[in-house]
Amino acid sequence: MALFSFTSIAKCANAISFILFVVYVSSLFNHLNLASVAAKHSSRNSVHASHHHGHHRGRHHSNHSDSAAASDDHSNARLDRAFLALQAWKRVIYSDPNNFTTNWKGPSVCTYKGVYCAPAPDEPKTQVVAGIDLNKGDIAGFLPDELGLLSDLALIHLNSNRFCGILPQSLANLTLLNELDLSNNRFVGPFPTVVLSLPSLKYLDIRYNEFEGTIPPQLFSNIVQLDAIFVNNNRFTSINIAASNLSSSASVVVFANNKLGGCLSPSIANFADTLEELLLINTSLSGCLPQQVGFLYKLRVLDVSNNNLVGPIPYSLAGLAHLEQLNLANNMMTGIVPAGVCSLPNLANFTISYNYFCEEDGICQNLTTSKGGKTAFDDRRNCVPERPYQRSQKECNAALEHPVYCF
Ligand SMILES: *[C@@H]1O[C@H](CO)[C@@H](O)[C@H](O)[C@H]1NC(C)=O
Ligand SMILES: *[C@@H]1O[C@H](CO)[C@@H](O)[C@H](O)[C@H]1NC(C)=O
Ligand SMILES: *[C@@H]1O[C@H](CO)[C@@H](O)[C@H](O)[C@H]1NC(C)=O
Ligand SMILES: *[C@@H]1O[C@H](CO)[C@@H](O)[C@H](O)[C@H]1NC(C)=O
Ligand SMILES: *[C@@H]1O[C@H](CO)[C@@H](O)[C@H](O)[C@H]1NC(C)=O
Ligand SMILES: *[C@@H]1O[C@H](CO)[C@@H](O)[C@H](O)[C@H]1NC(C)=O
Ligand SMILES: *[C@@H]1O[C@H](CO)[C@@H](O)[C@H](O)[C@H]1NC(C)=O
Repeated sequence: MALFSFTSIAKCANAISFILFVVYVSSLFNHLNLASVAAKHSSRNSVHASHHHGHHRGRHHSNHSDSAAASDDHSNARLDRAFLALQAWKRVIYSDPNNFTTNWKGPSVCTYKGVYCAPAPDEPKTQVVAGIDLNKGDIAGFLPDELGLLSDLALIHLNSNRFCGILPQSLANLTLLNELDLSNNRFVGPFPTVVLSLPSLKYLDIRYNEFEGTIPPQLFSNIVQLDAIFVNNNRFTSINIAASNLSSSASVVVFANNKLGGCLSPSIANFADTLEELLLINTSLSGCLPQQVGFLYKLRVLDVSNNNLVGPIPYSLAGLAHLEQLNLANNMMTGIVPAGVCSLPNLANFTISYNYFCEEDGICQNLTTSKGGKTAFDDRRNCVPERPYQRSQKECNAALEHPVYCF
């Protein structure tokens, strides 16, 4: 009992500070004309790194707010620390072909290109550096330890640059950081565990880098409260989500194009209350799809294409009433395509091509490949008699000689 009431008090306290924080972040977003909170990220391009945040480059940046301009005359300790941090950063930038950092001179950091100031959440009369946006800068350099001095930052967008090396441990100081986008750079080394210590982080995007090794299970625990996780297109070689104590608040999880291997754990059910998009394309997944995938009742996008999955489509998928995109292409799946999946009310695109399915149940036979129907269906290169573009009898017999029992 005591534990329970303690928890609810803690939740209330969190709720209040969260609301204040949301005001800070959303005023910053309005300020920058950003609309990038993770949940708004669209589904189909989730694997690609360069589609987002691109629109607000090229904004004029002088006098972006009266208060920011005013603060330039009233330097404060927090802006002084930011000045030290940004000058240290500039010293380890070795190439800046688009002149993003050319005007990073002098103490008026709020006038620096790509640096955005806003009133501090705890001290509304004080301007602080709340955002850094160097998207598509093509800048080469490192992230220095001094970035830890930018403890007022709510967002860092470094998409499409040539930053390399590892993330400094001092980033743990950025307790207000809400969005961290490091996508499409040259960061290396193991998973940057420093991000796990950022209490406000909601949006983590490290796709298209050279991170390697294991994706730590702590990424899926209650020590982080992430809404979106993009780790695709790195060199990660394993992930262990088999523990039953995992939890996740993420609505979008993209692991694609890493050599993770292994089976999809039934613990995926721990993600049920929030997960809307799960992209596991080309992750060397093997084994059967567990029934528990059907417990992810909020799913809109499920893409497990280009893996080594075997066995049938779990009947439980017929319960995914919000599912819009289902891609099982390029696996070794077998069995009957269930009518309950083909008739899902929101399914717009259902792809099973390049598998070994041998039958399509009832209404599945009425799905068409065109966009004309409710559900675009692609069943090429399977083993369904009477359907066009199927595999040869010989290929099918060879595969069906080795039946798979999953459940
Ligand atoms: C910025 O604001 C200052 C003071 O309000 C003004 O003097 C200056 O001309 C403005 N600069 C630009 C580029 O609008
Ligand atoms: C950057 O500045 C240099 C030197 O002033 C100039 O030659 C170059 O054209 C600038 N590059 C861009 C993309 O504006
Ligand atoms: C963390 O931020 C505080 C100010 O909030 C600063 O005094 C301290 O030096 C920073 N620590 C690091 C490691 O940058
Ligand atoms: C799950 O529990 C085990 C054993 O108590 C612990 O070692 C592990 O760190 C926990 N994992 C997470 C992600 O919390
Ligand atoms: C699949 O992932 C591997 C990394 O595991 C990558 O090298 C390969 O290019 C990816 N394939 C496609 C088609 O993206
Ligand atoms: C359906 O999804 C597949 C895989 O993502 C894609 O290649 C195809 O173009 C989509 N079809 C339609 C009609 O949108
Ligand atoms: C498939 O379509 C045909 C003709 O449009 C219709 O008669 C039949 O009932 C449909 N089958 C199912 C299972 O809905």
